[in-house]
Amino acid sequence: MADVDHDEEPHLLEEDQFLQEVHSFSFWFEAIEGYLEDRPRGYVETLGEPTDSKTMSDADRDQLITTLCNYCVGESTALEASSGLVRMAPNNHSRIFLATQVADEARHLEVFLRRLEMLGVTNPEAEVEARAASGLVEFRKRLLDLVDQGDWEAAVFAQNVLLESMEDTVFKFHESVADTITQQMLEGVVADERRHLGFGENDLGRRLAHDPDGRSRLAAIRADLDPLVLASFDSVYRELGLSREDQPQLGKEYLATVERLGLTT
Ligand SMILES: [Fe+2]
Ligand SMILES: [Fe+2]
Repeated sequence: MADVDHDEEPHLLEEDQFLQEVHSFSFWFEAIEGYLEDRPRGYVETLGEPTDSKTMSDADRDQLITTLCNYCVGESTALEASSGLVRMAPNNHSRIFLATQVADEARHLEVFLRRLEMLGVTNPEAEVEARAASGLVEFRKRLLDLVDQGDWEAAVFAQNVLLESMEDTVFKFHESVADTITQQMLEGVVADERRHLGFGENDLGRRLAHDPDGRSRLAAIRADLDPLVLASFDSVYRELGLSREDQPQLGKEYLATVERLGLTT
């Protein structure tokens, strides 16, 4: 089996190589062992509490708490949805991959909940519920409905393409402006989200290549769900202190993926 460079974008791998390598626990172990070994809580604890975390203003701390609460909504949604997808996966390759994704999403949730505790939140569950953006809560409901309906293609699209690519964009931006601890946590999470996105694009790409009806159906679902996720991430950018004109072009990569899949309307 050829070795895969873990820095290589999973969605750019050839189909055979993707199936053999990415849908395997050894690929997953190699990808995650670095940050699990060095960062059991998601950041390098031996560095001690960095100055930028100690000197954060109350307003910045409060905004970060709101942002992290919304990340927890996204991660708990992906955890529930990916575990539901294991049951309806069309083959064992996909089941195995999704089992690794379930573990990843649980880990992301754990890391963000821990960060909330470090920031002084005494009841993270209640705080997440209180601060969740309405668009994201609605998206969560819609995605879990697709899973409950057993609609594999639509659920994989909503989770592994739409949610993952938006998370990837926002986390990467946040990483560039975050305090050191949050930045280290986001760095580990982003690497995982890219694997999940790779799975979604690869699976749907193969299915939709010769299925124009399937493409039209997913394009309609996409048009329905896009505004919910875009509005949620707009609000995260605002919390991070960015005005609309300063916002990075949200979802550039997402739009490129959607185009590759033929889901533009
Ligand atoms: Fe995640
Ligand atoms: Fe993910």
